[in-house]
Amino acid sequence: MSAQRYTLPAILLHWGQAVVIVWLLWLGWTMVDLPKGAERSAAYGLHKSLGLLAMGLIVVRLLWRARHPAPPSPAVGNEARLATAVHHLLYVFLVFAPVAGYLASSFTQYPLKFFGVEVPKLGWPDEGMNATFKLLHVVFVWSGAALIALHIAGALKHALLRDGMIARMLPGRLFKK
Ligand code: HEM
Ligand code: HEM
Repeated sequence: MSAQRYTLPAILLHWGQAVVIVWLLWLGWTMVDLPKGAERSAAYGLHKSLGLLAMGLIVVRLLWRARHPAPPSPAVGNEARLATAVHHLLYVFLVFAPVAGYLASSFTQYPLKFFGVEVPKLGWPDEGMNATFKLLHVVFVWSGAALIALHIAGALKHALLRDGMIARMLPGRLFKK
């Protein structure tokens, strides 16, 4: 299949963000069960810093993507429509999950830090608002995890078929069909 590849910036943004997101899902999932103490505070601090990084990355990615359309896909029919729908929903998740997390953390008494540097918050200490945005955050992140599972299942299918689709998202020299 002679499909065009994504460009290097698109590939770097895709994989850089994939690593950050999987890390965040793992960290989020494990940190909420930690007992109160230094380990829990450190895990929450790292989660918020990485989450803010993800929030910045999606802004860069969307600005970049707006000027650089995806290479035309060789997929056709319902499968192509499903893949495109999942990609669009992944972008919705990548925007709203960190925003909900940021807003949840805005409505607390604690300062919000990005790797040690304090960042402005958009709220004030308010338990009700904090609980609402936490709930939204949890709904977004777990819906996003389900989308990622679907996306990876699709990618695995193409990997097994060896139809060249995965190569579109890999740097040229790494993949010889
Ligand atoms: C957190 C994990 C991931 C996220 C959030 C994510 C997100 C996305 C998005 C939004 C696109 C669409 C790019 C565009 O056209 O603008 C995309 C494309 C793609 N992703 Fe992922 N991805 C993730 C993990 C993976 C993994 C683990 C694989 C492979 C095993 C993979 C393989 C691909 C491929 C091959 C494409 C290009 C599909 C095509 O050519 O139509 N992704 N991804
Ligand atoms: C795409 C980015 C993000 C992902 C994938 C993510 C993922 C998660 C996950 C999986 C959880 C555990 C949910 C559960 O209780 O089952 C969680 C909780 C949490 N996240 Fe995030 N997160 C992201 C961004 C952020 C950001 C930007 C912030 C704040 C600046 C944040 C703050 C929190 C907080 C405070 C909790 C704990 C909620 C609680 O104690 O119930 N997250 N996150």
